[in-house]
Amino acid sequence: MPWRYEEEGDNSWGCASWFEYLVVVVLSTILLVGALVLTLFWVIYYRGGFAWSENPEIQFNLHPVLMVGGFITLSGFSILFYRLCRCLKHIYVKLAHTFFHACTIPCVVIGFLAVFDSHNLANPPIPNFYTLHSWIGLVTMGLFVLQFVFGFFTFLVCLCCENGTYSCRAAMVPIHASFGLVTFMLACATCVTGLTQKAIWKLGSAYSQWTEEGIIINAIGATIIALGVVISFAVRRSNAPATAKVYVTERL
Ligand code: HEM
Repeated sequence: MPWRYEEEGDNSWGCASWFEYLVVVVLSTILLVGALVLTLFWVIYYRGGFAWSENPEIQFNLHPVLMVGGFITLSGFSILFYRLCRCLKHIYVKLAHTFFHACTIPCVVIGFLAVFDSHNLANPPIPNFYTLHSWIGLVTMGLFVLQFVFGFFTFLVCLCCENGTYSCRAAMVPIHASFGLVTFMLACATCVTGLTQKAIWKLGSAYSQWTEEGIIINAIGATIIALGVVISFAVRRSNAPATAKVYVTERL
């Protein structure tokens, strides 16, 4: 069983490894929470806060907040927790990973309904799915659903027959890990394109005047891009000491 190698050397990390580990954990936590806090600040302070279908323009504001909250903050924590948690039994780590991703689902559903309503209830209605942003967004949501269903059945339900499904689950781990990272990167790209088009549509020529709102929107986008870099580093980084040959993504 590959993960045994890792457990044997688990506590043999040197100072530098611990320092790198802490930097990754602290930096990614600041960025994950920061992206959501900045988005909340932007829509509440500059875009009029929240409403439902009685005011479709304001209803739109739920879209960026819930999409960033779900696809970036919750999914990011879920990936990091799975990848970097060193203190819990692996089954608990898996359950927490599933739980964080499950919390993403209502955020994405409500966030999608909010933008869909804000288009269809506008006067005159705004056409749907014509932007590059909406196309990448649909692919991201599709991949997320596939990953969730596939992961749930392969790594949780198949545990009922642990020995019989071992080799199948082992073969699936790298596929699930790679597509998980792809989905997160696509979510980052979707958010950045959404922010850019909103900035251009809402601020118009004021965007080029370095307005406060434009700077906040750019800061949200920059935070999300930084997260793309930090999370991919965290995922590819070995969680095991240099002597152990095994990566956590190979754990079942
Ligand atoms: C991963 C996160 C996101 C996903 C999956 C996503 C998905 C989508 C989808 C599928 C649509 C099309 C809705 C329709 O045409 O009825 C849309 C619209 C829109 N989204 Fe997002 N979105 C995300 C994040 C964001 C963010 C952070 C913003 C920032 C403001 C944003 C801004 C917009 C805007 C302005 C529209 C309306 C114009 C359009 O259809 O492109 N989105 N989004």
